[in-house]
Amino acid sequence: MNAVYLDHNATTPLDPAVRDEMLPWLDPRPANPSSLHAFGQHARRAVDQARVRVARLIGARPDEIIFTSGGTEADNLAILGAAASNQSPTRLVTTAIEHQAVLNPGLHIRRLGGSLTLAPVDAEGRLDPDTLLSSLPGDTTLVSVMLANNDVGTIQPVAALAEPLHRRGVLLHTDAVQAAGKIPIDVEQLGVDLLSLSGHKLHGPQGSGALYVRRNTRLSPILFGGHQERTIRPGTENVAAIAGFGKACELARERLDADAAHMLALRTRFEQAILERIPGVTINGRGAPRLPNTTNLSFEGLDGELLVLNLDLLGIAASTGAACSSADREPSHVLLAMGRTPAQARSSVRFSFGRDNRDEDVPRAVESVVRAVQRMREGRR
Ligand SMILES: Cc1ncc(COP(=O)(O)O)c(C=O)c1O
Repeated sequence: MNAVYLDHNATTPLDPAVRDEMLPWLDPRPANPSSLHAFGQHARRAVDQARVRVARLIGARPDEIIFTSGGTEADNLAILGAAASNQSPTRLVTTAIEHQAVLNPGLHIRRLGGSLTLAPVDAEGRLDPDTLLSSLPGDTTLVSVMLANNDVGTIQPVAALAEPLHRRGVLLHTDAVQAAGKIPIDVEQLGVDLLSLSGHKLHGPQGSGALYVRRNTRLSPILFGGHQERTIRPGTENVAAIAGFGKACELARERLDADAAHMLALRTRFEQAILERIPGVTINGRGAPRLPNTTNLSFEGLDGELLVLNLDLLGIAASTGAACSSADREPSHVLLAMGRTPAQARSSVRFSFGRDNRDEDVPRAVESVVRAVQRMREGRR
């Protein structure tokens, strides 16, 4: 089936150039980067090259990149690693719209005797930095604010937090998993101490990712073993995945402007056509700066999950929200935090475009959404 894939915030297709970069490392040839012999040193060079490529995407130094098994591990390492390096009990302040990979380590910190505070967002899904700073508990040790939200695509004012937090001795982490490859990222301009990335959100392999750790930031490991990744993340490196992730970051950097313009053009046409042709549609987060590829739409009176299933039958792949929670029936915590009622939140569907979408995908997706919504509203499923 020639389906139209509009779920790039869940995962992206592997870029062929990334696959080519990975294939030699899947040959039956030993490749442990810690080995002193030629096989090992060859693998070490591939890991080093990938580190340079990842660092360049975010304006970091190569020695500030720690490879992980993905965005979830990078978030866990940032939050639990920062907590473990503290003498005093941790107080984590984060937002109500974070991914589970941040919220759940936060709950774990609370179980360990620390505290967790969730900062609210406005109806457009945006954090007000002044509100967060003025209500910041005095014993805060770590603030984690995502750079862009996965469900609605809203971009958060992370850079505005850095200097005031550093003055108070508070570390700043950002989950940039959804932002990377869609908007420019520069760790110096953001001023963050820790930043999470994931390979499979930018046409790299699943199970690859990295945590940026600013020089001189105190961070304890959360896994214990060998000396790999400066002992912050021990375990033999997944050379194929790391090499592919590095290539994906290089491509993302080279193509950023073109990819962003392409995705924005497709999304704009899609949103305009849907609003014109279907009554009772709201774009969630429309009033805030958003990622160029994401649109989250509430369809008044409809069940978003049923709409996703009907769209699937018509060859359109969309989602009700975060892939990890779309299997449960809970409405999106992001939309609830934006003040939507549970019924409004349940009526929402996320469409996320990617560099591989073509112009002709837009009319096809629009026709399918119009058809599916009409049928559902007429009570014919
Ligand atoms: C904002 C955000 N953070 C973290 C993750 C987790 O990344 P990974 O799938 O690489 O573990 C995701 C994945 O959906 C995400 O959207």
